[in-house]
Amino acid sequence: MANETSTLGLTVRDAGTSDLDALVALSRKTFTDKFDHLYRAEDLASFLEAEHGREVYETALATPGSLLRVAETGAGALGAYLACGKLTLPASDAPPGCVELKRLYVDVPLQGRGLGTRFVEEALDWARKQGAPAIYLSVFSENYGAQRLYERFGFEKIDEFWFPVGEHRDLEFLMRLNLEDYSKK
Ligand SMILES: CC(C)(COP(=O)(O)OP(=O)(O)OC[C@H]1O[C@@H](n2cnc3c(N)ncnc32)[C@H](O)[C@@H]1OP(=O)(O)O)[C@@H](O)C(=O)NCCC(=O)NCCS
Repeated sequence: MANETSTLGLTVRDAGTSDLDALVALSRKTFTDKFDHLYRAEDLASFLEAEHGREVYETALATPGSLLRVAETGAGALGAYLACGKLTLPASDAPPGCVELKRLYVDVPLQGRGLGTRFVEEALDWARKQGAPAIYLSVFSENYGAQRLYERFGFEKIDEFWFPVGEHRDLEFLMRLNLEDYSKK
């Protein structure tokens, strides 16, 4: 499999079509584990259907200029994933060529061991290789742990917007890292 490395007893590699079922399951589980207390069951269900279904990841795999990475345990299960691609967040003043860290999720038993940090490093390396002037992401306004992680790399909050989850609306922070300012630590 392309671009395979080992870290923390896990294999980190590009996702492929054979990962789709496991990726969808991980995507739904990790979102639900973190955020389900915020939503009514019907809002969560419609959001998972629309945004964490197979087509989302099939599209990512088929789209040039996208990055989809997974961490696989020794037992062959997926424990974390990273998705990056072209910028689609509401960043009206972004110059051409900017990219987005779209998703970063680590399964609960693997959190706090450096995997998230490793995946942010991968996202920044990938973005720099794309020649992107900046990388953007959005994060729930009350997801303080993830915000700390992104701020450590130099991401800064530049705006806020409302993010729909079914009928519910979350306040999201738009964050940006100018890549010319980024020097690898
Ligand atoms: C946020 C997340 C990706 C970080 O990955 P991780 O592998 O746990 O992170 P690391 O071990 O590399 O730790 C780096 C930082 O991540 C954050 N972090 C660690 N554990 C965390 C947790 N359980 N929840 C939220 N943030 C956490 C902290 O900022 C941590 O730094 P700290 O030790 O100084 O507090 C991961 O915890 C996760 O998937 N959380 C749930 C989903 C989520 O919030 N995703 C981000 C959506 S924008």
